[in-house]
Amino acid sequence: MRIATMLWTVRALGALCLGAGTALAADCPAEVREPVVVADAVVCRELHDAIRDPAGLPLDRYEEVYSRYFGNFCHRDTASGWVRDVTVRDTGPFTAMFVDGAWRSQYNGTHSPVVIWYSPEMHAWMQENRTPQDKGFGPDKSQVPDGAIIVKEMFPPPADLCRDVAVEHLFPTHGAAFMVRQSTASADGWFWGYQGWIDTPLDWPASNDSNALPNSGFGMGCTNCHASARDNSTFSSLDNVTGTPDSVVMFLDESPADIASQNVAPAEMPSFHETIANPVDPAGRLGAPTLWYRPDFLTAYPYPEQEGGTGEPRLETRLMMPS
Ligand code: HEC
Repeated sequence: MRIATMLWTVRALGALCLGAGTALAADCPAEVREPVVVADAVVCRELHDAIRDPAGLPLDRYEEVYSRYFGNFCHRDTASGWVRDVTVRDTGPFTAMFVDGAWRSQYNGTHSPVVIWYSPEMHAWMQENRTPQDKGFGPDKSQVPDGAIIVKEMFPPPADLCRDVAVEHLFPTHGAAFMVRQSTASADGWFWGYQGWIDTPLDWPASNDSNALPNSGFGMGCTNCHASARDNSTFSSLDNVTGTPDSVVMFLDESPADIASQNVAPAEMPSFHETIANPVDPAGRLGAPTLWYRPDFLTAYPYPEQEGGTGEPRLETRLMMPS
């Protein structure tokens, strides 16, 4: 773990109750007094090429590059041609239900509320391929050029909490997911990554304790969703940059059966993994998931007796296996 070098005074969380008869003003937990802008332009110039060449360095050294680059807020460099979404926006609906005398709300976006920043290369590509007039499907006119970068800063849900705050005064409390284009480095042509300003887990060297899935790399799980984008694995749209807060693109994550069923207490809610692995709907599938070890598998790959005598690895052993 490492802590970003920059410290920002994040305003206290919470809603301000102004008393009977007055409006209830919600405070934006991501608002900061000082504008969040490029801290040192020299660092941005120094890392200009390295950030665009993720395959050029081993992951641990590239992680240093991007955490310095984004830690320095180089992606907010509007003077160098970076552009951003018009406003902080939800990436899906925020729903509320009145249950047992109380409101229960649920954010249904694919990511936390976002402000997405686009490098000059990415912006130029969007102007050619993703104009508000062009809502088509199928291939884009051109491939995203190498060196294009997209940085998706994330904020607390719902976006309404922070919509009235100037974006320069919003600190990305929920980190940022980012994409760097390098077409020859992997099948989908993107480096996928996560940047946290408060606490960033390093992927390399991997932790022996947590065996956590990596946050950054090529061919990441991010492609599960991004492969369904129209083309180029990106949902980017100029509408989000030039439009109004009402015209921005929004997607509904339909993985849970319906929104109403999400509004149950977390303890009663099946995990996302459980919902996928043990579907209850009758839709035909290629094959049912195998929940237990098959005897022929265990015969071929017997586990040592000390693992509990069942011939299967214990849970603790399974958790330590490479992901
Ligand atoms: C659950 C599906 C899902 C997963 C998993 C996912 N994304 Fe996304 N992502 C989306 C959708 C949908 C959008 C468009 C959101 C919008 O603009 O409203 C998006 C937008 C983005 C954007 C802005 C550019 C664009 O294509 O719109 C970036 C950058 C991004 N995601 C990075 C990542 C990274 C990095 C990961 C993995 C660590 C990841 N995403 C995992 C669904 C997903």
